[in-house]
Amino acid sequence: MSSKVTQRSVTFTNNCNPLQITSKEIDLDKCFNPDEIVIKVQSVSANPIDFLAHQCASKWIVSRTPKTIGRDYAGVIVKRGSNVNRKWQVGDEVNGFFKHLLGERGTFTDYLIIDPSKQQAIAHLSNFDYLNINPKDFNRFDIAASYPLTFGTAYGVLYGQGQKLGPNSRILVNGASTAVSNALIQIAKKQLNIGTVVGICNSKSFDYNKKAGFDHLIAYDKGNTVEGVQRYIDNNLQGEKFDLIFDSVGTSQFFPTINKLLKPIDEGSYYVTVAGKSKINYKAGLLGGIAYFPLKNKLQSYSPWRTFNYAYLWAKPESNFMELAAVMFENKQFTPSLDSRYSLEDFQQAIDKLASNKAKGKIIVTFNKD
Ligand SMILES: NC(=O)c1ccc[n+]([C@@H]2O[C@H](COP(=O)([O-])OP(=O)(O)OC[C@H]3O[C@@H](n4cnc5c(N)ncnc54)[C@H](OP(=O)(O)O)[C@@H]3O)[C@@H](O)[C@H]2O)c1
Repeated sequence: MSSKVTQRSVTFTNNCNPLQITSKEIDLDKCFNPDEIVIKVQSVSANPIDFLAHQCASKWIVSRTPKTIGRDYAGVIVKRGSNVNRKWQVGDEVNGFFKHLLGERGTFTDYLIIDPSKQQAIAHLSNFDYLNINPKDFNRFDIAASYPLTFGTAYGVLYGQGQKLGPNSRILVNGASTAVSNALIQIAKKQLNIGTVVGICNSKSFDYNKKAGFDHLIAYDKGNTVEGVQRYIDNNLQGEKFDLIFDSVGTSQFFPTINKLLKPIDEGSYYVTVAGKSKINYKAGLLGGIAYFPLKNKLQSYSPWRTFNYAYLWAKPESNFMELAAVMFENKQFTPSLDSRYSLEDFQQAIDKLASNKAKGKIIVTFNKD
């Protein structure tokens, strides 16, 4: 029987061309090396980095070869190389976060080929049966593809700087409604038992974020946000400042008065951002993308003159957060938030929804016809 199959992928060559579905024939018996597995992808989820990578791919900088978008995936192993760890077997259902930048391989594809010893953010599918997610709208592969990157990012924010956060800690989250913050609030409350987590979001999103677990919410569309935070510290925290300020939107609004909001540097406090100093502009082309990438922010992290600990965090494809997610699923402590689902043919609608900056939870693209 022929082992040749058609591989459809969502690709681009550079930012002069739109994303498109491209197809090629691959031989399933020959397309991987001894260290790799082949995953028949069922569902993927969209992330801002997928969009940004395309936006920044100037034709003067990048190669002419097609680049596949996508980091999050869920699917079934259909092939394994002879050197692959025995815990990954043909027929296993897996999900994960595949890290790459402008790679020929990405997760928006029928067949994802990875080396699981290098891309360690891979796990067997957890048990999602308890989740109160409408099975008519989303299946188990959709759920599995929805969380790895955002959960891993939130994990990095809470554990990645060696902080010791616990019941007496106070966290301020700029962008409570983002998918990363939705994972963060669940880890903060259910794993670390953080006493106070305050979120900043649109006043229309208060209910969504209250349900997610935030103790208090401040509206960014009603009055001055920083003054709102200061008032909360004065009136509700008896003047006690935050141990961690996490920015998942991109802002510099806290810096002028940061020493009134964040505990002193010698108390192990941190300002962690995953989005830099300004909100991502999905329509700004290459310049917008370059503004988003944080070279000078990185320098700030190490400056000997800094008055507070600053970290610009990039999620890493490690196994630790996939293990924590599995434990949290097992203990019924984590429910990913899902916004919508599109078929592969409608992938552009998924990208447009992401760029609207209004999604509440993850946007799924399914490769499955069901
Ligand atoms: N560095 C990394 O490794 C890494 C990893 C993952 C994500 N990121 C970055 O993290 C950011 C969040 O990603 P995501 O996928 O979690 O986002 P997302 O889910 O797409 O965020 C959408 C939400 O953003 C909120 N929002 C929009 N404008 C806002 C504003 N001015 N202030 C506060 N909230 C606002 C909206 O809620 P409201 O209703 O409250 O407006 C909306 O529901 C992106 O910039 C992404 O590039 C970085």
